[in-house]
Amino acid sequence: MKNIKAIIFDAYGTLFDVNSAAEKCKDKIGDKWEGFANYWRTTQLEYTWLRSLMKRHKDFWQVTEDSLDKSMKAYEIDSSLRNELLDLYKILSPFREVPAVLKSLKEKDLKLAILSNGTPTLLNQLVKSNNLDNLFDDLFSIEEVGIYKPDSKVYDIPIKKYNIPKNEVAFLSANTWDVSGGGNYGYNSIWLNRNNNIFDKLDYSPKHQIKQLGELLDILK
Ligand code: LAC
Repeated sequence: MKNIKAIIFDAYGTLFDVNSAAEKCKDKIGDKWEGFANYWRTTQLEYTWLRSLMKRHKDFWQVTEDSLDKSMKAYEIDSSLRNELLDLYKILSPFREVPAVLKSLKEKDLKLAILSNGTPTLLNQLVKSNNLDNLFDDLFSIEEVGIYKPDSKVYDIPIKKYNIPKNEVAFLSANTWDVSGGGNYGYNSIWLNRNNNIFDKLDYSPKHQIKQLGELLDILK
């Protein structure tokens, strides 16, 4: 990985903990909170892929609400929690190491950006509520192209904006399918594998695999 000019991060699940909304309600939801959170996330992603294939785009916030409604039914969650869960989803917590690592990266002469399914409003709110808003050069949203990851039009967004070759990008994601999507597109994809997961078989092997974001600083040395 030579000549890296830009570091592009996935947002949900990579920098921000998508389970943190349900976790903050675990006293009310009970032991099933984690199964519910995983089901919500899986349904949300399935809806993004299905909507892209059906060419019936709805933005990520609407997809998040729709997937929550199905998940609340599946897990028999009291409907009084709906608004609380949605409000918490707008201000998801970052993973613990993320703020300090981003601050260290900011000192390097590199572009730092997010490339996410999230809408511009959601992404702004997410970084602002966690005091991370001064650390990024750009928050790229798929709304610019109206189709979800892993469509190549999405991964094209930063390349067009920065006018750099694909192999000068380091792309960080904890979502295996997003690592494969960015890698097949031509990025140097790095898999942030916090939980000892198994990688996909989708024609791409990550350039690096790390367990926490801080290891990125060693890779870039
Ligand atoms: C995102 C989804 C993939 O942030 O988590 O784009």
